[in-house]
Amino acid sequence: MTILVTGGAGFIGSNFVHYWVAHHPEDRIIVLDKLTYAGNLRNLESVANKIRFVKGDICDHELVFSLVKDVDRIVHFAAESHNDRAAMDPESFLRTNIFGTYNLLDAARQHQIKRFHHVSTDEVFGHLPLDGGSFNEQSLYAPRSIYPASKAASDHFVRAFYHTHGLPITISNCSNNYGPYHFPEKIIPLFICNLREGKKVPVYGDGLYVRDWIHVEDHCRGIEAILLKGRVGETYCLGGKESEISNLELTKKLLALTDRDESFIEYVKDRPGHDRRYSIDYSKAQRELGWEPTIGIDEGLKNTVDWYANHQAWVDEVRSGAYQDYYEKQYVTR
Ligand SMILES: NC(=O)c1ccc[n+]([C@@H]2O[C@H](COP(=O)([O-])OP(=O)(O)OC[C@H]3O[C@@H](n4cnc5c(N)ncnc54)[C@H](O)[C@@H]3O)[C@@H](O)[C@H]2O)c1
Repeated sequence: MTILVTGGAGFIGSNFVHYWVAHHPEDRIIVLDKLTYAGNLRNLESVANKIRFVKGDICDHELVFSLVKDVDRIVHFAAESHNDRAAMDPESFLRTNIFGTYNLLDAARQHQIKRFHHVSTDEVFGHLPLDGGSFNEQSLYAPRSIYPASKAASDHFVRAFYHTHGLPITISNCSNNYGPYHFPEKIIPLFICNLREGKKVPVYGDGLYVRDWIHVEDHCRGIEAILLKGRVGETYCLGGKESEISNLELTKKLLALTDRDESFIEYVKDRPGHDRRYSIDYSKAQRELGWEPTIGIDEGLKNTVDWYANHQAWVDEVRSGAYQDYYEKQYVTR
């Protein structure tokens, strides 16, 4: 089995590649990644001799078609995914998330691949009130900002290829991930790195934004379960193990894990269109796939803080920007 993993040098994609190599060593993996600021080839260093890495853009028709012809499955992670960047540069979100997904679908259809798994987000469903409710597979699409709007469009194209062309697709809509190799612009790795360096952490607005945190390893196991047992044409919602907490509660847990006090909190002006709460009902995945998350928030955060403490060289390279030279050193000057 040959699997094309798009965006495999990013946070979740690289965790998935590590997971798949460890659990399915008989399979071949090709990673296609443009290495934007969010892609870091160091994330794949320890599995470099077990995979094929191709630097390229999912919007590149010729490249994508030439790769997909030798592939059985595609697991599609590549995306622009940072909400704060979307407001400044919406076009790259439309290009990669919508057109890039369409390009992959078109290649998958023409080469009749066995499965196209699309990795999506619960943010396509909009947000929930603080006092209740959860998203599930029947939730209506109601994205409120550019990143989730572009992911919503990509989900619709994926389903359209299933209904129109019979392409064997599956989709997962997952809640917020955390864990190793997370780029320190997102709240958990940013706060861990800042606190370890003795810097303050910026908390948006009143800090009462609630997220349903899932450890990235649970997400990777969920995708594996969908690939192996999921029904073609279906969508599965994946969420964390009792891990719904506010940003303020999360911050306090990180302060405790890094031996800092609340004077390290700095409240900053809120982001426009900031979604209040996300929550996932993953009972369909539990029922149909036998999947459920296993890593609770306290255990997961402790592991993540330890991972960052043990990978200071990775953090330093990312913080200084030096990680972006690594591809050139590995592949271009060879
Ligand atoms: N991070 C989360 O909490 C979360 C939650 C649910 C779903 N998702 C989805 O999971 C996927 C991966 O998210 P992530 O957090 O790992 O993102 P990330 O930003 O860490 O990684 C994205 C990767 O895609 C690559 N990429 C971007 N544009 C590309 C292009 N045009 N061609 C080829 N490669 C390109 C980047 O170089 C990077 O390696 C995304 O589709 C995202 O919507 C993320």
